[in-house]
Amino acid sequence: MERENFGSKVGAILAAAGSAVGLGNVWRFPIETGQNGGAAFIIIYVLCILALGLPIMISEFLIGRYTHANTAGAFRIVSNGSPWKWVGRMGVFTGWFILCYYVVVGAWTMHYTFLSVTNAFYEVPAREYETIFNGFVSNPWMPTLWLLVFIGVIHYVITRGVQSGIEKSAKLMMPTLFVITVFLAICSVSLPGASQGIEFLLRPDWSKVNSTVVLEAMGQAFYSLSLAMGCLCTYASYFDKKTPLAKSAVNVAVIDTLIAIMAGFIIFPSVFNIGMDPNEVGVGASLTFVSLPNVFQQALGDGSVLAVVFSTLFYFLLFVAALTSAISLHEVATAYVTEEFGMSRKRGATLVTVSILVLGTLCSLSFGPLSDVKLFDRNIFSIFDDLSGRILLPIGGMLISIFAGWVLDRKLYHDELSNGGDLKAPYFKLLVFSLRYIAPLAIGLVLLDQMGVFQFLALK
Ligand code: TRP
Repeated sequence: MERENFGSKVGAILAAAGSAVGLGNVWRFPIETGQNGGAAFIIIYVLCILALGLPIMISEFLIGRYTHANTAGAFRIVSNGSPWKWVGRMGVFTGWFILCYYVVVGAWTMHYTFLSVTNAFYEVPAREYETIFNGFVSNPWMPTLWLLVFIGVIHYVITRGVQSGIEKSAKLMMPTLFVITVFLAICSVSLPGASQGIEFLLRPDWSKVNSTVVLEAMGQAFYSLSLAMGCLCTYASYFDKKTPLAKSAVNVAVIDTLIAIMAGFIIFPSVFNIGMDPNEVGVGASLTFVSLPNVFQQALGDGSVLAVVFSTLFYFLLFVAALTSAISLHEVATAYVTEEFGMSRKRGATLVTVSILVLGTLCSLSFGPLSDVKLFDRNIFSIFDDLSGRILLPIGGMLISIFAGWVLDRKLYHDELSNGGDLKAPYFKLLVFSLRYIAPLAIGLVLLDQMGVFQFLALK
């Protein structure tokens, strides 16, 4: 069967950027930045991207494009039959695991878009937002229904194929996402009192930076760039031989970081406008679904057209961001089952979709009827979240960098990177140095930190 490629360079970059720009950019990065030293954190974050993120992204691109195969197949080819082939399989598994809980949040963003557009937050007292959110997620039906819709959309895009599904949707959704982000940031920045919010986000405060902050910046860089599990490897398997790998990686990282910083410009000016303490807005779901709907209503005028428009666009933005990331995760698994088990794309995608539906529903219900099902004091959702984010991703990242730095043939690496000599690659030595030494060591520290080893040793 003929393997599809992306039709254009722009399409390829937008698809990869769609994978990278996701919930992580909005619900983690801004608050992490604000609390951990503003511009100082951003500088450290960018250094992490330069020192670790880009080398690993370029390696994933390279392995994907060189093999033109799904992640498991790609690693089987480049590993020459050695146990390194398991890195690819582990990546596919990790992505599938992430997808199971990611879709649950994707479904929530749809519900909140709906609530915003119907002006459901009008005259809701501040303390009620938590009740609304808890009531929604613990309800057995509503979140499941939205989950069905969200997964349905992913399935639709995936079954349409690489060019008319993934690429076309990315070309439509990424510019939309960008325009909405800029618009919301401008609105928020022009609110009275916005300057305090900008100051909170950007004022460099090096005294807040310690080893924990650095580790956090690293973890965030990995998650945000969709690294360490072969997501970008799968997308790169649809790159053509002329795609400049390093340049594309830089483009993706720049887009991802810009959107993350702009998300901060959307959030904090509004928070300061209503005189709320930014340290109390929470992070993740509580920030996004409890604090922010209230902040937006109050900052823009309760029930006003502006509040409705702003809030609707914000949740729609989250929806688009989550959708393009979820599509990329789904594609990893779909490409795997299709190619490794010789199925049609439609059948492969259906298999993945059904599995995600079942496990996603379990994750979703773990806030309601299944909330008593616990392992290590975590509900099903957190098990998927923690296991993939804290353990599988760092292990994957470490293995990929060690493989790319130590095992993969240097000449092959250089040839691919330079597109067979067409491009110059003056940074090649630095890249290999990072892959060999810096990345494995740094990720090893992140892994120990995520597993709570430092806390256990009372180093933190
Ligand atoms: N990068 C996405 C975000 O910021 C999430 C994501 C998509 C991801 N694919 C991934 C994270 C692969 C790690 C690995 O929300």
